[in-house]
Amino acid sequence: MGFFGDIGREGSRVVGAPSILSADFAHLADEVARARSGGATLVHFDVMDNHFVPNLTIGPPVAASLVAATDLPVDVHLMVENPDNLIPAFADAGVASISVHAEAVVHLHRTLTAIREVGCEAGVVLNPATPPEAVEWVLPEVDYVLVMTVNPGFGGQSFIPQMLKKIRRIKQMTDAPVEVDGGITAETAPRVVEAGARVLVAGSAVFRGDPEAEMRRIIGAGESGLG
Ligand code: DX5
Ligand code: ZN
Repeated sequence: MGFFGDIGREGSRVVGAPSILSADFAHLADEVARARSGGATLVHFDVMDNHFVPNLTIGPPVAASLVAATDLPVDVHLMVENPDNLIPAFADAGVASISVHAEAVVHLHRTLTAIREVGCEAGVVLNPATPPEAVEWVLPEVDYVLVMTVNPGFGGQSFIPQMLKKIRRIKQMTDAPVEVDGGITAETAPRVVEAGARVLVAGSAVFRGDPEAEMRRIIGAGESGLG
């Protein structure tokens, strides 16, 4: 039924998802392969447009190359103003899942439905300042909820601890898996898992060291937070 659907059913699997934002883009396939050796089972792909966030990254052609270069599912995090325009191109690139920001989309229900219609799993993302209630009425249309644990735009920022309460609140609202993104390290991983998160995105903590060892360390630390 899809990667996130399986995570939701299994309940207690902790997923390590390296964010390639902090990888060496000239050696993307190798970087992802090294994180995969450390237990990564999903690749997090950050798309920024210099409008919704003050940074600029990569798009569908790079996603297509990465899909061809790894057997891990590719999870696209769209930090862009008009995500609807990009959904078909990322689906054609072969990505497994696409998430959109509640703050960036006017017709959120329509956009999430469009993601599912092209055969991808659909995620909704919340900035740190956005309340959980913002997504309450679209929860039937989502396969996962991505809680930003930093303000989106850059790697290497510090985890915002108030987000632990938001993760708990969202888990009271839905059985869909919670993914967390920003400031995830071996220190913060047990705390987010204990709060209910299961998919741990980590960029700088994985790629600024040895990706295999760091990925393994973060997943292991996350597992220690399981009840
Ligand atoms: C930030 C991106 C993240 C980023 C996280 O806006 O969405 O995926 O790579 O980086 P770290 O893990 O370094 O906080
Ligand atoms: Zn991200």
